This record gives sequence, C-alpha cells and structure tokens, in this order.
Amino acid sequence: MGDIVRLQKYIAMCGVASRRAAEELIQRGQVRVNGEVVRELGTKVEVGADAVEVAGKLIKAASKNYYIMLNKPVGYVSTVKDQFDRPTVIDLLQDEIKSRIFPVGRLDYDTQGLLLLTNDGDFTYKVTHPKFKVDKTYIATLKGGLTIRGLQMLRRGVVIDGYKTAPAEVEILSAEQGKTMVRITIHEGKNRQVRKMMEAVGSKVTALERISIGKVALGNLPLGRWRYLTSHEINYLKNL
Ligand code: URA
Repeated sequence: MGDIVRLQKYIAMCGVASRRAAEELIQRGQVRVNGEVVRELGTKVEVGADAVEVAGKLIKAASKNYYIMLNKPVGYVSTVKDQFDRPTVIDLLQDEIKSRIFPVGRLDYDTQGLLLLTNDGDFTYKVTHPKFKVDKTYIATLKGGLTIRGLQMLRRGVVIDGYKTAPAEVEILSAEQGKTMVRITIHEGKNRQVRKMMEAVGSKVTALERISIGKVALGNLPLGRWRYLTSHEINYLKNL
C-alpha cells in the first residue's frame, strides 16, 4: 500500500502547485480523483493507487525532488516558457535535468544572480510567500550617487506603486564618480522591487545581482552555471 496523504499535499508533491494553490484548484473543481471531481479539502489519497487529475491531466508524484541553485545571467526569463520566445532559465539546465522543474520566484530578464529551481511546490511556497519573510540580498549598481536622505528613506520604507515597502537593510559599498554600489536586503517580492525602490529615492539601477536568499549564498558559482543545493541548505530553507 502507498502512503495515504491529503489531496492538496499530493498535488504539491507532484510539483504541480504549492499546497495553497492546490487548495484553490480543489475548491474550483479542477481536481478529479479516480474520475470524480473532489472539492473537499483534506480528502485523502493513496500515493500510487489513486488516479489524480488536475485540469484534466493525470499527475504523478515526482520520484525525486530537485533543489537547484543557478547563477542566472542577464538575458534569460525566469519562467518555464516565454511568450516572446526569449531564452529561459530552464534552457540552461535542460541538458542535464530531464524532470520538470520550476523557478522559485522570479528574477527580472535584466537581473542576474541567485535563482533557485525545484519541483517541490511546498518548498517554493516557503521561500517565496511574503509571510515567511525570507531575506533576499542584492547588489545594485546605481548611476550617480545615493543621498543620505535617500538611504534613510530606503531604511524606513518607500512607496512604490501605492505600496509602502518594509524597512530595508541598505549599505553603500562603494561610491566612485558616476557610480554607486549598494547592498540591499528585502523580504518582500514585489515586481521590480529594488529598481522601483531606488527610483523612489531618485536613483537609477543600471545593474542588479541577487547574491543570497536567507543564508544561502551564490558564492563563487560562475555565471550561467548551476549546482545542487546541499542537504544543509535544503533543510535550512525548509525550516525557515
Ligand atoms: N528587484 C528587482 O528590481 N528585480 C529583480 O529581479 C529582483 C528584485
């Protein structure tokens, strides 16, 4: 007999969606168990015995979970498929990883650095949902300077798209003529957040790199290369 698990957990185990998104799929009537639509959260299924379909497609428990770190170069989208056919981060892995894996959150097309990828929907939920407040640290290159007042505003929180950001940790790393390097740590994941925060204080980001997620750091992984997370890193991120 296979393990008996809750339906939403099973859907997450299959890498189809996070557990929360799976609950929504169930409530919307998108999930069938052995041919019958099930809308009841907490319905139990037997792994390997019950046939579970999501939006008409039979899903299978991933036999193995993948947890990968990529040093994303500029010029790649962090989605599985791009509507404009631009290169995707999956293109950088697909020679070696044959399973379906998904980026954990996003980095902009023009941002480089640490991107996690996995087929574990629960892991993605943990690392990306704002309620877990996982710190993400970036090095931003700014055109021109950053004023003391700008620095203080970033540290208190600024308004972007009508939303007040949480206080950020910000430090100036270097300031040469015409160029300032700043380290900034945030835990929210608004669209183009760092760029917009800098804009809000009158600075323009010319390059952006994510260097860490929580204590998991990019280190010296070369641009465009990937590696498996260590079991220590996986457990750390799962238990944040
Ligand atoms: N902030 C941005 O502006 N872009 C990213 O890709 C990530 C954070």
